[in-house]
Amino acid sequence: EPQEPVYRIGFSQCTTGDAWRRAMLAGMEKELSLHPNVQFQMLDAHSDTDLQQRHVQEFIRQRVDLLIISPNQSGPLTTLAESAYNQGIPVIILDRRTSSRLYTAYVGGNNLEVGRTAGRYAAQLLRGHGHVLEILGRPGSSPAIDRHQGFTQALAAYPGLALAGQLTGDWRPASVLAQLPAVLRQHPETDLIFAHNDPMGQAAHQVVQQLGLAGRIRIIGVDGLPGPGNGLQLVEDGALTATLLYSPGGEEAIRTALRILRHEPYAKDNILVTMVVDSANVGAVRSQTERLAAQQQDIRRQQQRWVMQQRRYASQKMLVYLLLAS
Ligand code: FRU
Repeated sequence: EPQEPVYRIGFSQCTTGDAWRRAMLAGMEKELSLHPNVQFQMLDAHSDTDLQQRHVQEFIRQRVDLLIISPNQSGPLTTLAESAYNQGIPVIILDRRTSSRLYTAYVGGNNLEVGRTAGRYAAQLLRGHGHVLEILGRPGSSPAIDRHQGFTQALAAYPGLALAGQLTGDWRPASVLAQLPAVLRQHPETDLIFAHNDPMGQAAHQVVQQLGLAGRIRIIGVDGLPGPGNGLQLVEDGALTATLLYSPGGEEAIRTALRILRHEPYAKDNILVTMVVDSANVGAVRSQTERLAAQQQDIRRQQQRWVMQQRRYASQKMLVYLLLAS
């Protein structure tokens, strides 16, 4: 069997500070474990756009074989991503977008659709009447822009629904804990909160509870991660009325990277599906993700066993050879 060449993949990640990014990395590592010929390096920008610019420059300087970028903010990373692409380095944009079509492939959800689905779901919950408050992700990051646009588009179809207030968050719960009490005091009429991700939705739930409004205000989040304290559990516990599944796509990013590196056919836009999870289907979704995880673990165990057997077989062959030669 011919040996695969060594491939160097650089990954410029906007942050690793939350469960969703950790799930993304775990997915990447799972897929990378099948490709020992890949040298993978991740640089974590800690939500700092300037630092991320330097990271991308560094990967270009190293002339990595492929670059994966999840841009903290779209605008400031666009020129650099384009420049890598124009220099012949394949570029995969993951989850958050640049504002350019000059990239090799995109992997991630359709955030306009995430926002629209949240808006339609909110309208259903409130039977077309009520006051809605939106908690946005970090300004300038593409999912915040697209989720907002989709959400307001969907609400516009319901004259009885008003976007009563807005809060500019930064994807992190602390920004919500600090600002939401004042916003809610200004907008006591609020019936529903759409938070651009589950961690901010969870923080909103905390605030709403502290203000004694938990029975009245419903909260929708985005991400729907399995695991303790994450979105699926928040829905099961009733802290969130619903969440929209938004897959981190780590496995898919590495699979796409290998197709590109091996000059195999690949799709330019790899859109991961999203769906609403609420009390009606959270049990089913949860057991399905758990079953999938268990199956994948089985497969990995079998792969490891196979590698061990190969090694044992190779050393036995060596032994026979030595005996015959002596
Ligand atoms: C994690 C995260 C997710 C969100 C995504 C948007 O860092 O904030 O919660 O869905 O990034 O890019």
